[in-house]
Amino acid sequence: MSHLFDFDYHNPTAIHFGPGRIARLRELLPPQGRVLWLYGGGSIKRNGVYDAVSQALRGCTVHTFAGVEPNPALESLLPALALMRAEATDFVLAVGGGSVIDAGKFLAVAALADGDPWDFVAGRRAIERALPVAAVLTLPATGSESNGTSVISRHATREKRAFRSPWMRPRFALLDPQVMRTLPDRQLANGLVDAFVHACEQYLTTPVGALVQDGYAEAVLRALYRLASSFARRHEIEWCQNLMWAANQALAGLLGVGVPQDWATHAIGRELTALYDLDHARTLSIAQPWLLRETVAAKEQKLLQMGREVFRRADTDALQVIAEIEALYRRLQMPLSLPEAGISDPDAADRMMTALLPQQHQLRDLDPPALRRVLSALSSGTA
Ligand code: NZQ
Ligand code: ZN
Repeated sequence: MSHLFDFDYHNPTAIHFGPGRIARLRELLPPQGRVLWLYGGGSIKRNGVYDAVSQALRGCTVHTFAGVEPNPALESLLPALALMRAEATDFVLAVGGGSVIDAGKFLAVAALADGDPWDFVAGRRAIERALPVAAVLTLPATGSESNGTSVISRHATREKRAFRSPWMRPRFALLDPQVMRTLPDRQLANGLVDAFVHACEQYLTTPVGALVQDGYAEAVLRALYRLASSFARRHEIEWCQNLMWAANQALAGLLGVGVPQDWATHAIGRELTALYDLDHARTLSIAQPWLLRETVAAKEQKLLQMGREVFRRADTDALQVIAEIEALYRRLQMPLSLPEAGISDPDAADRMMTALLPQQHQLRDLDPPALRRVLSALSSGTA
């Protein structure tokens, strides 16, 4: 294959980027809207976001639901759904990171439907409408603020699933890099690595001569590589601005149009979170290098291209490029195996196999024996 796939591209999210942008909220909301304001565990009360949003919403009809947890679960969102129905809210405002925004998208779909809302997450039921959603982003990482994806867990069955629909794309997103000042180093590193892997999943496949997509992906990867190298400057506004925009662009949809993609790292990562409650980005740093070593032959050309264009190493081989990616994660103190994340489970590979075999279609270049090799390696930290 050496040509682009056909594609349709439409990203309707209006992005308002820059310090102070949250004040625009008022003029962007529908004047008579009945707003569900969703937020997480309270970080927005420490960085001025809560006050700025409250100010902007003064005089509006607003119902608040707080406490959306990282890796949001169906069980904890059902009370929000009940609130929306009782109050007939017709607009969802998500203020937080990927978890709060994903929860908002899910609720926007579920609020307009009868029946079991998990059917949408599991892909058993098509999404045909949703309430409008908007986002005030506080953690650059997932790109959820301008894409049509949501990731929801279900504790009862230890599942974590991604689902997509154009209906879930936010109407607008407010990106003020000043809100990043309260982010702990762990979340900044998580955000950087998540965005890096998003770009990789759309780039590290096979070449199809996509000059523009490759160039965009390389620009985002180079930016993230520079931000990792200058992590000491993470409290400067210039650094924050660049992470916020890079993370948005990494998963706003443009990098992946018309080119092959491989989301196997994310498929494995979701199961690692479902089983061991690990931060999303940490599952990616654990899974991706082992996966790349297993699939190095299939991905060799793009790895070499990444070595030249991102790491600026002309004389490199594919394994060295993988080592370079690992070095980037090490610099950010990310784990590269389950033991490094404090998990020692002798049954980890078996449990992961059981969870992943029904999802084989998400694991592009991996047959079951190859999958087992990857899972054994990441569970033990040795190939
Ligand atoms: O809950 P609060 O108190 O707000 O604290 C959060 C949370 O504990 C904190 N935080 C957020 N902004 C902050 C802050 N702390 C201080 N200052 C701030 N400005 O950070 C913690 C983590 O937040 P979370 O939203 O969970 O992180 P992230 O944005 O990394 O989102 C992770 C979720 O998104 C999914 C992941 O699977 C995971 O469930 N993903 C969503 C995607 C999408 N919709 O496109 C794609 C991704 O690949 C990913 O799967
Ligand atoms: Zn991700």
